[in-house]
This record gives sequence, structure tokens and C-alpha cells, in this order.
Amino acid sequence: MAIPLPILVQLLPLLLVAAAPCSLEAAAPHQLHPIVLVPGYATNELDVRLTELYRPSSPRCGERKGKGWFRLYLNYSALQDPANLPCFAEQMTSVYDTASDDYFNVPGVETRVPFFGSTQAFRYPDPDRKNFSYMNTLVERLEKVGYRDGETMFGAPYDFRYVVAPAGHPSRVGDAFLRALKGLVEQASRLNGGRPVTIVTHSAGGPLTHQLLIRQPPAWRQRFVRRFVPVAAPWGGIVLGMVTLVSGNNYGLPFVDARALLAAGRSQQTSLWLLPSPSPAVFGTAQPLVITKSRNYSAGDVADYLVAIGFGEAVGPYESRVLPLFGGYLPPPGVPVTNIVGVGVGTTERIVYPGDDLDATPATVAGDGDGVVNLASALAVENKWKDYRLVKVSNVTHNDLVADDQALEIVIREIQRAN
Ligand SMILES: *[C@@H]1O[C@H](CO)[C@@H](O)[C@H](O)[C@H]1NC(C)=O
Ligand SMILES: *[C@@H]1O[C@H](CO)[C@@H](O)[C@H](O)[C@H]1NC(C)=O
Ligand SMILES: *[C@@H]1O[C@H](CO)[C@@H](O)[C@H](O)[C@H]1NC(C)=O
Ligand SMILES: *[C@@H]1O[C@H](CO)[C@@H](O)[C@H](O)[C@H]1NC(C)=O
Repeated sequence: MAIPLPILVQLLPLLLVAAAPCSLEAAAPHQLHPIVLVPGYATNELDVRLTELYRPSSPRCGERKGKGWFRLYLNYSALQDPANLPCFAEQMTSVYDTASDDYFNVPGVETRVPFFGSTQAFRYPDPDRKNFSYMNTLVERLEKVGYRDGETMFGAPYDFRYVVAPAGHPSRVGDAFLRALKGLVEQASRLNGGRPVTIVTHSAGGPLTHQLLIRQPPAWRQRFVRRFVPVAAPWGGIVLGMVTLVSGNNYGLPFVDARALLAAGRSQQTSLWLLPSPSPAVFGTAQPLVITKSRNYSAGDVADYLVAIGFGEAVGPYESRVLPLFGGYLPPPGVPVTNIVGVGVGTTERIVYPGDDLDATPATVAGDGDGVVNLASALAVENKWKDYRLVKVSNVTHNDLVADDQALEIVIREIQRAN
């Protein structure tokens, strides 16, 4: 199906160009609580190595077999060549294995996340294209107010294709990330005289970090976490999560055909986390999100929707691995929270098909939010969490919440409140 261009443009990563003076005063390092930054989906670099087990779909895709590590995400210039797109797609694909109930890379594709511990990992998704970034401006502003990478400021990049699952369901890659994130928080505190850490996240980094916090005992949280500052977190998925499962996601790169990445996008564990939650605190089960001539789909009908779009194999993992985490109220993280939420930007809230064909081009109805995250999802934790502070930022888009001058004044101020 063809998704109208404005939707694709709203979708993840937008082009951001940076820099302007910051009015905030730098603080002496001894006054700072260390910061750990957790980025959103598809923000940090991801390396790949192709081994003998790899069965490329074409000789071109196998050209780098046995030749060591290279950067899979993001290599902007590689993606500008449409002939490379199928290779990128198959190497970004993961596989859900029903027997072991877990997600894996395609055989012969090994991945690693470079620069764990450092903000270097996500200053630019492609370091060869420094005019294309989502996080560099935020990191620069933090440096201006006195934070130093590896001393008082740390980065927690991850393989964003993978997330975690409820107890009893393995998630080898995501679990390893949560262990590494926990270790990084402890290390950040240790390097700073035992001061507890402010964890700052963007977008999908928020729900992932929330999973770490709720899995720790209260004594750990109290000792190591000063405050949790999620920016633009989708606490209960997004309506666009249903859209990308039929249109594909081109990572905000206008020259990339999203359809060519549809199968790869569907295969990723993360894609099911972005589906809208039927929790009464989020979208509920009465509000139609996808409208067709003979059938409407609310957040309570996501399983039927998955079948209708020809993605029935996702129903099992959606019901056993996603709904238990996001189908009801999110448990309090047990630390002080500042929820920074974007409002006032038109955000896809309803998809209307002319007939019953889900391959047709739909119309969309916009509601409130940050252009990606619906307000209902951003506010899903409202009135549920103690020691909670809500900060709304008007008229700034999802990615600009960590790049726009005025938004950053607010974000940095809220981070500094922890000191
Ligand atoms: C990016 O892709 C180009 C074109 O395929 C290639 O020449 C270059 O080596 C790649 N860069 C990295 C860092 O892998
Ligand atoms: C970014 O840099 C590339 C060359 O490195 C250039 O072609 C492109 O136009 C630049 N984009 C912007 C938005 O400045
Ligand atoms: C779908 O929802 C729309 C808007 O609420 C409503 O007008 C329509 O009757 C519903 N269609 C079906 C088949 O329930
Ligand atoms: C946001 O934009 C709307 C519509 O353009 C405008 O009415 C409103 O005043 C703006 N709000 C802020 C805080 O700038």
C-alpha cells in the first residue's frame, strides 16, 4: 500500500541541523549528578559482520562476507544506491523462532553496537554525515552546562531491533542490554562519588529503561537512580505502529523506498512494541483506530488486524510477549520521574480506508501529540505514578524535542533540577 508522503515524513528520524548559544550556566563537575542517556529507535550505530553461514540473496549482498565488521546502520551513502537496499533489508532482518520463543539475527549475520558507555555511539547515526543527527545537539548542550563524556555523562546505545519480554519469555539480546545498562548506571554512580544517576531517554528508550527499573529491587533504585527523565516516550505504543506494518519504515530517509524495508521492519521484535495499547489508560478498546468499510479495528483488535494485513505469525508473540507488558497500567518505576511530552503537533490517530482493501491508500485523521507519539500514549502514566512531574512542550516534533533550541532549554532545565 502507498502511504501518503506526509506520514512518511512524520515517521522516525527527521533531518536535523543544529547549534545556537545556550543561556544556561555551566556547573562545576562536583555538583553534577551523572547522566546516562538512552536514545530512541534507530538512533545509534550498528555494526555487522557476515560469516560463512550467511546465504545472501544476491552476490552483491555477499560481497563483504568474511571481510570483518562494517557499519550497517547508518551508512547514508550506501542506502542512496537502491541496489544496496535489499542487502540492508536482509541484514537488518531478525527471525522469531517459535521453538525457543526468542528473536535472532539471520544466520551468518553477526551484529554489535559500537561505543557502549559513550555518547559517541549516537551523536550522529552516520559519522560520515555530520549534518544528519538526532542527538548531537542535546549532547553538546549537556557539555555546555558542564557534563563530560565518560566522566559525568554516559551513553547506552543498543541493538534497536530487539527489546525485552515478560518473565518466562527469553529475550537474549534485550536482556543483555538491560544488564549492560544496569552496569553502566552503577559505574556512572561509582565514578561520581556514589551520587545517584539521572537517566535521560528519548522515545522508545523510555519504555525500555522503564523495564530495567521495574525489574530492580527498591534498594537498587534508591541507591543508583536520582531521577528518570523520559522525553517523548510512547508508554502505550503509537497508531503509526499499525501503519508501518503495512507501509514499511524508511528511517526518515526520503530517498529510501519504505516498501523495500517492510519485511525487515515487520521481523523486528521492536515493531510489536510500537503497536497501540488497549489499556484503558491509553487507547482503550472502543476507539476505532483503523476504519474499513466492513470492519473497524481498535487497540483491542490488534491481533485481528495483524491477521488482516497478512502478518498472522505475529499474533502469538504479540499476545504472549507484548500484551502482558503494555496491555494494562504500567507499574510505577519506583524513582522520581519527569515525563517530558510533546503536544500541539498533528499526530496520526485514525487511519481510514475507502473500502476493505488494506493495500489501498488510506486517509488519516490527526489528533494531538508530537507528530509520532499520540498524546494518549505520552500521558498514559498520568495519575498512576508517584513522585511524578509532567512537562509539556508545545509545537515541537518528536525528534526536535531533543534538538530544537526552545525544547532543549526545557529539557536541560529539567535535567539540572536533579542537581
Ligand atoms: C558505506 O557504504 C559505502 C558505499 O557502499 C562504502 O564504500 C563504505 O565503505 C561504507 N562505509 C562504512 C563505514 O561501512
Ligand atoms: C549534508 O551534507 C551532504 C554532503 O556531505 C550534502 O550533499 C547535503 O546537501 C547536506 N545536507 C544538508 C541538509 O545540509
Ligand atoms: C467504524 O467507525 C466509524 C467511526 O466511529 C463509524 O462511523 C462506522 O460505523 C464504524 N464501522 C463499523 C463497520 O463498525
Ligand atoms: C502552538 O501552535 C498553535 C497553532 O499554531 C498556537 O495557537 C499556539 O499558541 C502555539 N503554542 C505555543 C506555546 O507556542
